[in-house]
Amino acid sequence: MMLKIIPILTDNYVWILYDKKNFCIIIDPGLSKPILKEIKKHKWFPVAILLTHNHIDHTGGVKNIIKHYPNITVFGPFETRDSNVNKIVNDGDKLFILNKEFFVFFTPGHTLGHVTYYSKPYLFCGDTVFSGGCGRVYNKKYLDMYNSIQKILSFPNETVLCCSHEYTLSNLDFSMSILPEDKDIKNFYKKTKKIIEIKKTSLPSYILLEKKINLFLRTDEYSLREAMRLDRNCNSLEVFIKLRVKKDYFWS
Ligand SMILES: [Fe+2]
Ligand SMILES: [Fe+2]
Repeated sequence: MMLKIIPILTDNYVWILYDKKNFCIIIDPGLSKPILKEIKKHKWFPVAILLTHNHIDHTGGVKNIIKHYPNITVFGPFETRDSNVNKIVNDGDKLFILNKEFFVFFTPGHTLGHVTYYSKPYLFCGDTVFSGGCGRVYNKKYLDMYNSIQKILSFPNETVLCCSHEYTLSNLDFSMSILPEDKDIKNFYKKTKKIIEIKKTSLPSYILLEKKINLFLRTDEYSLREAMRLDRNCNSLEVFIKLRVKKDYFWS
């Protein structure tokens, strides 16, 4: 399966997987117009929509897309049931779409019922992990979000991380305010700036890369506790909460 990224709205991404026969799967279509345009341009035939969570910037295009392609199957977690979903997915489900396996993982924290889809090597993690950061934690479910991030961290290093927003530079700005001397983050910031100028996107990312540059995936490091003036013996969850709350009030 080949992967295509489509920017929509201010900073959202819709991902499309397509095969050699031009059948395609759309992930989190927050809008319909740019997606329908792209489908027509490439002569794709959509067979499924996968939704990660119930936010309008991820679900807003479903209704109009299925008007054009009424045979599409729309998969989504229970919280998306009112977005024209006809197959509710649950943690541990295995879906077969276009002869490929898609594994469903419950990754709550950003929303109460957020899910992530894995079809080797691609991981569609919605608003759970971004390059250099993570999603906002609504409803104060920090433990849920922490556990979801650990789950994402456990995927193979070469996993292609398909996040739903272009927040990379602002995430790295925040990270550099915490760890100003971190060479990996500093270098990646410079590299990303150039890449965005050329390619207009910093995504997709990779698990291996995120392990190096994403502070939310590095909450077990002592350097982070020291930099944040936290007790050396506090646990990773406490570091995660402090970091997430700090980020909520950070403007670069
Ligand atoms: Fe969201
Ligand atoms: Fe979003």
